[in-house]
Amino acid sequence: HRYCVIMCGGVGSRFWPFSRNDRPKQFLDFFGTGKSLLQLTVDRISSVVKQENIILVTNRQYADIIREQLPAIRESNILLEPSRRNTAPCICWAARHICALDPHASIVTLPSDHLVLKEKEFEKAIREGFEFVENGDRLLTLGIQPTGPNTGYGYIQQGAPEASYPGIKKVKSFTEKPDLKMAEMFLASGEFFWNSGIFLWSAESILKAFEKYDPDTYQLFTPNQEGVYGTPAEPAFIDSIFPNATSISIDYAIMEKADNVFVKTVDLGWSDLGTWKALYEASPRNSDGNVTQNCKVLANGCSGTMFAANGDKIIVAAGLKDYIVADTENALLIYPIADEQKIRLIVNEVKSKF
Ligand code: GDD
Ligand code: MG
Repeated sequence: HRYCVIMCGGVGSRFWPFSRNDRPKQFLDFFGTGKSLLQLTVDRISSVVKQENIILVTNRQYADIIREQLPAIRESNILLEPSRRNTAPCICWAARHICALDPHASIVTLPSDHLVLKEKEFEKAIREGFEFVENGDRLLTLGIQPTGPNTGYGYIQQGAPEASYPGIKKVKSFTEKPDLKMAEMFLASGEFFWNSGIFLWSAESILKAFEKYDPDTYQLFTPNQEGVYGTPAEPAFIDSIFPNATSISIDYAIMEKADNVFVKTVDLGWSDLGTWKALYEASPRNSDGNVTQNCKVLANGCSGTMFAANGDKIIVAAGLKDYIVADTENALLIYPIADEQKIRLIVNEVKSKF
């Protein structure tokens, strides 16, 4: 009864210029392992969920990249969204789809752009998470010990521990992407964890949560007659309704609102490779604190700087402190690492100007 949904339709705009609209970061090989972040995600979950139960949800635009990168995943396990509506519609559709295949299904929902160093711990956490959500109407997220007031994450305030489930606590509050002041307060209180974005629930529980907390999305994905999901009629139905979905992430739509949210705190060597800083922090540094990726660098008096290129490029720099230098064939980014969250915004500006 165990299923996995991999969300892989995001654009990864904070990773510009490496992450591009036509090839976002989840399809890139960030560490020179020969595998993209998405391929690593599939590998990681394959020991817990059998391959025929792994469902990928992505934008139609990426269908070919997915087929090329994951030839072993069968076509019927790839759900193609006709428009971009963030993660709530993605999760609602996947739950409907899976529920039609198996009404007693439990689901782990994974982002496709994470780094997890401790694979064994990951496996164990997912297995224990499945047991927890298979025994009650509960929404579970894996929580990460925060290391700074990062404003790109959801913050989870832990409440009372759950008897007989070690490491699992009731969630008192969930705040998606707080501002810096709030993030600093959360951190200082010591009561908060970061939301990893790795969720577990039964298909029934998450659909119930949609019905209660995001009824518009729930209604939209409810066909007038039964027998649409899991049949050849499904793609046409989705194409007809999906553009009407509200663009909202699961964090705002459900996790901030629901009263049956739990957190399992984990130590997975986890990093959301959401931004340049995250990649910088996850990479080996030299004695000046510089990171060099896929390029040759001559750096004079530079420190805390991330140099990345997508080829054999030679980069010469002097006097850079805490910068990102990211070079691709047709775009170059030179930006203070501290402003990494703003890169999302400049992408729109670039698009409108050039
Ligand atoms: N199918 C599909 N469709 N997938 C999507 C879409 C979409 O429209 N939008 C995003 N995704 C995928 C992304 O590719 C990524 O793998 C995952 O969903 C999460 O989306 P992000 O856009 O990366 O979310 P985030 O990083 O800003 O925030 C989420 O993750 C954080 C931890 O990494 C939230 O859950 C935060 O609370 C959390 O802390
Ligand atoms: Mg992310």
